[in-house]
Amino acid sequence: MSGPPELRIGIVGYGMMGKAHSYGYRVAPMLRPLPVTPVAALISGRSGPGVAAAAAAYGIGEHTTDWRALVARDDIDVVDICTPPGTHAEIAQAAAAAGKAILCEKPLALTYPEAAAALAAAERAGVHHAVGFNYRRLPAVALMRRMVADGAVGEVRLWRATWLSDEFTDPGTPYDWRFDRQMGGTTIADLGSHLIDMALWMAGEIRAVCAQSATFIAERPLPGGPGGPAGPGGVAGGGRAVTVDDASSALLRFGSGALGTMEVARAAVRRPCDFTVEVNGSRGTLVFDYARLNELRYGSAGDDPGLYGMRRIRAEHPSHPYAASWWPLGQGVGYGASFGNQVADLLEGWPEAPWSPGFGQGAAVQAVCDAMEASAAQGRWVAVSEVTEARRPAR
Ligand SMILES: NC(=O)c1ccc[n+]([C@@H]2O[C@H](COP(=O)([O-])OP(=O)(O)OC[C@H]3O[C@@H](n4cnc5c(N)ncnc54)[C@H](O)[C@@H]3O)[C@@H](O)[C@H]2O)c1
Repeated sequence: MSGPPELRIGIVGYGMMGKAHSYGYRVAPMLRPLPVTPVAALISGRSGPGVAAAAAAYGIGEHTTDWRALVARDDIDVVDICTPPGTHAEIAQAAAAAGKAILCEKPLALTYPEAAAALAAAERAGVHHAVGFNYRRLPAVALMRRMVADGAVGEVRLWRATWLSDEFTDPGTPYDWRFDRQMGGTTIADLGSHLIDMALWMAGEIRAVCAQSATFIAERPLPGGPGGPAGPGGVAGGGRAVTVDDASSALLRFGSGALGTMEVARAAVRRPCDFTVEVNGSRGTLVFDYARLNELRYGSAGDDPGLYGMRRIRAEHPSHPYAASWWPLGQGVGYGASFGNQVADLLEGWPEAPWSPGFGQGAAVQAVCDAMEASAAQGRWVAVSEVTEARRPAR
């Protein structure tokens, strides 16, 4: 029995996101009829034994330690970039030059100029391009955006988000790319990019930011303990200097006149990956809390005053975004669903429909990240246009 033709994917990077994306390709055809069958055919990574083990675990037929060889393969249609942010722009530009469709994990690049260059390369090549802002594809987040767009809260006046994790609270956590600014490991880029994407998507353009940042643990042990490999950036005592923020927060001023606040931290003890997004409009409030990711809280000024408060909406009804593709009411979905939904969304209209959110959104998010960096460094409000209109980065 023959199904839709194969669309062959090469995944660059086999860590957490290599796994999540591999899962997405498997699940997507079960969710909706697609014009192509996505097949994760090849995966690359720096360690030979590591990438071989990952390929076996993820059910991917071939592996390589050379991402350039993956990009050059004629039988690969899509390059899926799951490496640290500092590597994204170079791989994306090479993939565009090779005529491949590109799915790139967030953040799109290290800086706004790099992100803009990746966008220009993809547009020049006329290839499909998307950034992995997967949280948009959770049913409750998609429903929140739909309700805001449909006017359920009226005019958006306040937008508020926090993302708290304890990833960096243990001083013994060894150095890796997440502590390295040159690899794009900042907390603003890591956690903030998702929140900024959701802010732009729900409440429109962010015009200016006023941010602050702190690094509480200035040095990290090298991997493998005291005998671990030293290298550039190594410091006395066998550790390496941290060049990223542990936590940042910002005031946001939207183009619409709405006010926003955002706090991102990997320094919050006993907070695993907790994020919340709240919108207060002229006629209502909506709240999403990741710990209850199938739900939204909603209150409207038009509600019966005798029932004052907010109701809990279960974002699992077949009329809600994505819900009908998954399980019956009451079963809910988890993080992994966002990756299946992502693939189904991107491939549903293949090859005619452009992908969304594309590199243009990736660059817009990057501009706000850069503005936050510049603001925290300079101790002043920074207009996002200072980043997008500068010849050189504002940091
Ligand atoms: N959308 C999400 O929910 C989500 C979650 C986590 C990470 N991410 C993003 O996905 C990307 C990858 O993150 P991850 O958690 O999978 O990382 P990871 O550390 O688990 O895996 C990184 C992979 O990239 C490879 N790599 C190539 N060059 C490297 C370098 N110079 N340093 C380190 N590794 C290198 C490694 O071999 C490995 O295969 C990042 O851009 C990150 O921001 C997204």
